[in-house]
Amino acid sequence: MGLKILKTSSYLPRNVVTNNDFEKYLDTSDEWISSRTGIKERRFAVDEDTSDLVYKSVDKLNIEDKSKIDLILVATFTSDKAMPTISSSIQKRLGLMEDIFAIDFNMACTGFVAGLKLCEKYLDTGRQAILIGADLISKTLDKNDRGTVVLFGDGAGATLIEKNNKQQYFEIGTRSNDECLKLNGRNIKNESSFISMNGKEVFRFATEVLPVTIEKLLKEKNITIDDIDYVVCHQANYRILNYVAKKTKIQVEKFYMNLDKYGNTSAASIPIVLDEMNSKGLLKQGQRIITIGFGAGLSWVGTILEW
Ligand code: UT7
Repeated sequence: MGLKILKTSSYLPRNVVTNNDFEKYLDTSDEWISSRTGIKERRFAVDEDTSDLVYKSVDKLNIEDKSKIDLILVATFTSDKAMPTISSSIQKRLGLMEDIFAIDFNMACTGFVAGLKLCEKYLDTGRQAILIGADLISKTLDKNDRGTVVLFGDGAGATLIEKNNKQQYFEIGTRSNDECLKLNGRNIKNESSFISMNGKEVFRFATEVLPVTIEKLLKEKNITIDDIDYVVCHQANYRILNYVAKKTKIQVEKFYMNLDKYGNTSAASIPIVLDEMNSKGLLKQGQRIITIGFGAGLSWVGTILEW
C-alpha cells in the first residue's frame, strides 16, 4: 500500500543566527563552518517551544476537509514536556476529531521518514494522516560547545498524507550505538542535558548506509537512477550528500539541499525541504523522490515517494 503527500507546509522561527554571530564569542569561523558543513545560518527560537512550531506548521497546511484524518503523528526528540504529547495537546486547537490517533514519537533525525512507514501501516486506503517533523534543538545545545552549537537549528515541517493502493517500499535499519550521538536528559539544566556527538563517526555511518539504502530501494522497485527526479535526505552536512552523489553516480543537482539556511533541523529537515521544493513548483505529479532519514540510534529509514 502506498502513500501520497497531498500538502506540505513549514514553519521556521524568525530569529536568524549567522556563522558570524558565533565568531563573536567562540573559537570558530564562517570559513570553518561553511567549508566543513555547508551551513551559513540557522534559526534559534526565542519565545516559542516545540509545540508552537508544530501548531504553526500544521495551521499553514490549510486542511479543508478534516473528516478523512485518522492519525496525527509528531516526530520529535525535543518535546516541550515528557507528557502529555504535543499531538494530543494541539488536537482541539487544530479542529481535529476526538476519535483520531494522536502520537508523538522519537526517532531523532530519522523521524519523518519513519513516520511515513507508520502512516503506511496504520492508515486504510483513502484515509489521511498529518505527519509533522519538528525540533527545537537550540534548547538542548551547549552554546559554548563549538563542535555542536554551529550545526543545528530549529524548525517544523508538516504534511498531509493519504494512503492509496500502490506499493510503498521502505528500507529500515537500526544499530545500537548509544555513544556517538546522544542527549541524556529533557530540560534538565546540567551539562549532561546537552547534545553530544562524535561527528566523524556519524559521518562515516551516514556515508556507509545512504548509498546502500539507495541501491536497495532502486532494486526493490526495479528502476534505475535515471527514473529518479530528486533525492531528499536528512540535511546534516553537504559533504555527506556530495559523497553519496558521487558514490551512487546520481547527479549532485538531484540532491536538494537547503541546510545553508537552516542547519540541521533533525526530524524537521526533510519536510522543510519538501515544502520548499513544493512552493518553488519543483515537484510535479508522477515524479519519483528518494527520501532517507538517518541519525541517532544509529538509525535510518528510506523510501521512494511518488509525487
Ligand atoms: O543529524 C544527525 C546526523 N549528524 C551528522 O550527520 C553529522 C556528521 N558529521 C559531520 O557533519 C562532521 O563530522 C562535523 C561537521 C560535525 C565535523 O567535521 P569534521 O571534518 O569531522 O571535523 P572534526 O570533528 O574532525 O574536527 C576537526 C577539527 C578539530 O580540531 P583538531 O582536533 O583537529 O585541532 C575540532 O576541534 O575542527 C575543530 N572544530 C572546529 N573548529 C572551528 C570542531 N568544530 C569546530 C568549529 N569551528 N565549529
